[in-house]
Amino acid sequence: MQNSLSIKKIKIRTSKSYFAVIGSGLIKNAGVYIKEVVSDCKIALITDDTVDKLYGNKVCTSLINNGFKVVKFVFKHGEESKNLKTYGEILEFLAENELTRTDAIIALGGGVTGDMAGFASATYLRGIKYIQIPTTLLAQIDSSVGGKTAIDLTSGKNLVGAFCQPELVIVDTDSLKSLPKETFIDGMGEVAKYAVLDKKVFSLIEKGDYDMQELIYLCIDYKRRIVEKDEFEKNIRKYLNLGHTPAHGIEKLSRYTIPHGRAVSMGLNIILENSLRHKLINEKEYQKIKQVIYKCVGENECPYTVKEICLASYSDKKRSGDKITLVMINGVEKISLNKISVDQLWGYLN
Ligand code: GLY
Repeated sequence: MQNSLSIKKIKIRTSKSYFAVIGSGLIKNAGVYIKEVVSDCKIALITDDTVDKLYGNKVCTSLINNGFKVVKFVFKHGEESKNLKTYGEILEFLAENELTRTDAIIALGGGVTGDMAGFASATYLRGIKYIQIPTTLLAQIDSSVGGKTAIDLTSGKNLVGAFCQPELVIVDTDSLKSLPKETFIDGMGEVAKYAVLDKKVFSLIEKGDYDMQELIYLCIDYKRRIVEKDEFEKNIRKYLNLGHTPAHGIEKLSRYTIPHGRAVSMGLNIILENSLRHKLINEKEYQKIKQVIYKCVGENECPYTVKEICLASYSDKKRSGDKITLVMINGVEKISLNKISVDQLWGYLN
């Protein structure tokens, strides 16, 4: 087992306190870490077909070796599966396998798996425990932490969900080695967001040649500080939506062929341009941030006009009534929340 000194741990103190553990080779010992938060129970491992081939057996073996009974639900990979149908199948699977409130779920995979298995945990028997084992960069730095769970409706992404914190998040940095390049860059789109939000992440990217464990640690630690203060997104958790209003429109226009993190990096560029246009940021700071976004994702041209994006963003679930909270950039680690009416969005973003 890995030397515990090389594992980084972060305690997240929300309505439920839990650890995120970050290190290399953690998946093959998942059962050891999980035994510290749930014991002697049945575990439903929920994963997609791609991740199952890579890590399904490793996780099952470690769970069995540590005294757990395991049942496994595998669905077809991709955002199209994150719907009411697959969610219903997961619930039926849990019931058929007689999982009770003392049992637990593991979400093994990327954001789709984490969101959907998390939502099943939040709702099955009015809530059972779950553990996140994120295997994509995007899930490791963002979606596996903070307890947002959801599925999509035909009308839009993540329209049904719940806040439900996991018992534990196990981040195995080795899993990044198995990611296709585009999936890695997708995660770097969310890293770019954290770089604008947090000076430490910004300097790491600016310097280059960073250690992934350190990068993931800093992103999760930033998120920890935010969700500990505002778990239910009443106020500063909205910072984490930086770039997301345009990203939401971009994803929708592309019929979800542009993945989330990539769309976020395009959204960040739109917000950055407009922050300069509205004189919220000076030219020097603007150039610095632009460079860092580029360092994260490289060339990143958005195929849509701002008008098209704004029209598509109107159904953003972050809107309340006819108002939308736009997260603007005043500098590195300097963010402002700007509440504007949806029909002013296109006038404001140009
Ligand atoms: N992904 C943004 C949040 O968790 O609030």
